[in-house]
Amino acid sequence: MALAIKPGDEVIVPAFTYAASAEVIAILGAVAVWCDVNQSTFTIDPDSVKSVLSDKTAAIIAVHLYGQCADIEALENCAPGIPIVEDTAQAFGAAFTAGKYVGRHAGTVGAFGTFSFFPTKNLGGLGDGGAIASTNASLLAKAKSIASHGQSKKYHHDQLGVNSRLDPIHAAALIVKLNYLPQALIAKVGIAGQYFSAFASLNKGVKLPLTASFSNHTYHQFTLRVPSEKRDDFASFMNESGITTMIYYPIPLHKQNAYAHFEPRTSLSVSESLSNCVISIPVHEALEPHEVRAIRAAVTTYFS
Ligand SMILES: Cc1ncc(COP(=O)(O)O)c(C=O)c1O
Repeated sequence: MALAIKPGDEVIVPAFTYAASAEVIAILGAVAVWCDVNQSTFTIDPDSVKSVLSDKTAAIIAVHLYGQCADIEALENCAPGIPIVEDTAQAFGAAFTAGKYVGRHAGTVGAFGTFSFFPTKNLGGLGDGGAIASTNASLLAKAKSIASHGQSKKYHHDQLGVNSRLDPIHAAALIVKLNYLPQALIAKVGIAGQYFSAFASLNKGVKLPLTASFSNHTYHQFTLRVPSEKRDDFASFMNESGITTMIYYPIPLHKQNAYAHFEPRTSLSVSESLSNCVISIPVHEALEPHEVRAIRAAVTTYFS
């Protein structure tokens, strides 16, 4: 809303992400134009974006999926001047490690960064909540006003808005939890490191996640690619071992009932194949060493 996206505008968004990334486009009456993702990092593929750019492109939503940064610099280069919204729901605390944005955090370099404090996220609150960030003062003021029913000051409604305020009780908890985020992220990276060393020599087609050269990884998810015909069996095996796995996401967005009317304009073959082969294993910072050992052992047993 703050970017004044209007009906008929086109917004490019990956087909392989959570539905919320595209939901906002449809709610504004704009057209979701799907692009594909990189099969190893799972984030938006700038070449695919280039193939669907048009004179109606009003924004690009780059999702920092699973906890690492999407290539914002490459997107800027292929679509100069087009606002980029960084969907940072899964990557609070991730940072760019090379390139133009080295040292900057995910969600702080685009026109807007959007964050989720859903309890499962890197920085989880007491319930639903989120935030938006922008370094553009006028965009930020506009967004803040929209989030409070379009008020510029109390009972002065200058634009159409919504109630999208973060409850103070959540904010109070998040301020405390924020202090613990650095050590939580270190713990997650440590667990991921153990998985990398334990799974490095696995065969039978299991593939490990790749961290892009320009980003660190916060491992909101640790997501394996496994042969699609084995995924259900692997999930059952893990479940029988007392280990929960999750599939983020089993259906790409262009195949979801709510979004199928946005017809693909480019190949989404990577999104389609990932939806059949991804599976995430636990990587929560509070896992006990014996639990991490059990997860390593179960995956290794299955794929050895
Ligand atoms: C990539 C992505 N974007 C957006 C959201 C939406 O976040 P919320 O449910 O807090 O609105 C999520 C939540 O899971 C997400 O994973």
